[in-house]
Amino acid sequence: MESNNIKDIPNLASHQQKYLDKFITHYTQRTKTSKQLTQNYRSVLADNRVSEGFNFPLKEIFYPIVAKHSLGSRIWDVDGNEYIDLMMGLGVNLFGHNPPFIKEVLENQLEKGIQIGPQSEFAGEVAELICEFTKMERVTFSNTGTEAVMTAIRLARSVTGRNKIAVFSGSYHGHFDGTLVKAQKIDGNLYTLPIAPGISSNIVEDVLVLDYGNPESLNVIQDHEQELAAVLVVPVQTTRPDLQPKTFLQQLRQITKQAGIALIFDEMVTGFRIHPGGAQAWFGVEADIATYGKIVGGGMPIGIVAGKAVYMDAIDGGMWNYGDDSYPTAKTTFFAGTFCKHPLAIAAARAVLRYLKTQGITLQEQLNQRTSQFIAALNTCFEEEELPIRMANFGSFFGLASSDNSTSSENSAASGSMDLLRYHLLHKGVYLLRAGGYLSTTHTNEDISYVIQVVKESIEELREAGFLPISLKKLTQT
Ligand SMILES: Cc1ncc(COP(=O)(O)O)c(C=O)c1O
Repeated sequence: MESNNIKDIPNLASHQQKYLDKFITHYTQRTKTSKQLTQNYRSVLADNRVSEGFNFPLKEIFYPIVAKHSLGSRIWDVDGNEYIDLMMGLGVNLFGHNPPFIKEVLENQLEKGIQIGPQSEFAGEVAELICEFTKMERVTFSNTGTEAVMTAIRLARSVTGRNKIAVFSGSYHGHFDGTLVKAQKIDGNLYTLPIAPGISSNIVEDVLVLDYGNPESLNVIQDHEQELAAVLVVPVQTTRPDLQPKTFLQQLRQITKQAGIALIFDEMVTGFRIHPGGAQAWFGVEADIATYGKIVGGGMPIGIVAGKAVYMDAIDGGMWNYGDDSYPTAKTTFFAGTFCKHPLAIAAARAVLRYLKTQGITLQEQLNQRTSQFIAALNTCFEEEELPIRMANFGSFFGLASSDNSTSSENSAASGSMDLLRYHLLHKGVYLLRAGGYLSTTHTNEDISYVIQVVKESIEELREAGFLPISLKKLTQT
């Protein structure tokens, strides 16, 4: 089979196949409209979310759940099934789905109209609020995180006059060609390669891909300090939530500062989540530029670049006043976008930031603590079940722990069963984002208890069907 999307077909024993057939029948009955819609429109709707990780034995249940409406911690699908949502808009919905304080401002804005082109009424106020939260000096708006990252890199290159950037393996910075790179060792030499067909190898020539959290990477940065415009870092990667390298980040700050390299924090996931001031405040590291999105848009598409004036002035030439001889003096680069400062996105961002301000740090502290308790309970469950799965969280996002080598191979061995586990959870009304997700302020203790209960039930069912190894502890107890 010529596709890197397709997983191997394991040889299933007859009792496993029988169990799977039965599960597939029940699952497809329950979610038949989602399946029907997916098939009906496949010929016209090119959608990688529907094809990624294609798995032959699970082909008949390989379709996305089509959502119809949502509220708080719940979503409902087109067949009327209710789910506790742990995907939470890929990290957008910190306050759950459709929070009244955002819904109201969006309705008001729709009444007022969507004026694109003239200055957005609240753009200045939102910029000021972001500066207050992030301790940055200036802010500009784009429509997605990808655009924000792309702009941040362009600003760094423009201001430093250098071309190279350094990124870290495992970091996702969006789908801009310039960051879709990986490191690969060929004949003992380390090369940067595009991660997918269609990305020009010329584009990645200016990118170094380094090991995250590894002190050796700091030496490589020092070796290239005269060429580097920026080091781009996701402070805690969603793929390795247990890797939270505070000392590494602080050393990285020192080295980049000394060498005049822009330190860019990509805070798309960590921003406004781990702390009101994001990962910068959490780790005590002041970046030169930080990019945000997700939470701050309140469900509307948004990307934000915040940074020190020396970098941000390349957007507009910098500060000037009326009534004197000042004018925009800084050298500028190119920046644009029809939908930047979209009135709906700005209205929602204003509502989010004002709400966060009234709630204070308690909001993040409580949610982070609840997520840690949730993950500790899940890990206890995996331990009791003798399963080689360990989860970790950073604030309210969680996923498989994988920075420890001993657990990573075990985790990957368990990943096939994870697919089945995820389908079992969906069948019981729990919607995960791959093997992880996000908690919101609307998830109740009952929601969390229910998730833990169905994880246990699903493990039990999968074990009985022969998809998980027998627990020796349980065997000796009986
Ligand atoms: C750290 C990080 N940077 C950038 C992006 C890209 O953001 P967007 O999907 O809004 O383009 C993401 C998206 O998940 C992200 O997690």
